[in-house]
Amino acid sequence: MTSNSVREDTIKAVLGKVFRLYVQSQCYHWNVEGPNFRSLHAMFETQYQTLSGFNDAVAERLRVLGIKAPESLDELLALSNTAQDTTARTADEMLATHCAGFQSFNDALRDAIQVLADVRDDGTVAVMSNILEWSEKEHWMMSASRQAG
Ligand SMILES: [Fe+2]
Repeated sequence: MTSNSVREDTIKAVLGKVFRLYVQSQCYHWNVEGPNFRSLHAMFETQYQTLSGFNDAVAERLRVLGIKAPESLDELLALSNTAQDTTARTADEMLATHCAGFQSFNDALRDAIQVLADVRDDGTVAVMSNILEWSEKEHWMMSASRQAG
């Protein structure tokens, strides 16, 4: 594989994962219920807003590198592995599903950063490292809120 196709495949795979978490956070924001409604509703809102910005930052890395960004919802969905979607109805289920989702997202980001560092795509490494830093912290905070205390 050429460096360019490594970049394209790696960045598009990350974009699909960012998009998926973005949609999931928005859906949880709409549907969460229970005694912690206000704080969870606000947390999911901050997450989908932040992830929306990351959709843009990652897609624009493609353009910077001379690669077309996705042009349709179909294309985004094809990158997003909707087979992983799970239905979470309660606030606890949403937090558990989101914790697991962020965990696997963080693992995927670390792998992508390694691959992109190897082809000297330092700009995208910087963008993804920024996302990883945020996402690791979100994972920690959601995990902490699930502890019995
Ligand atoms: Fe809202």
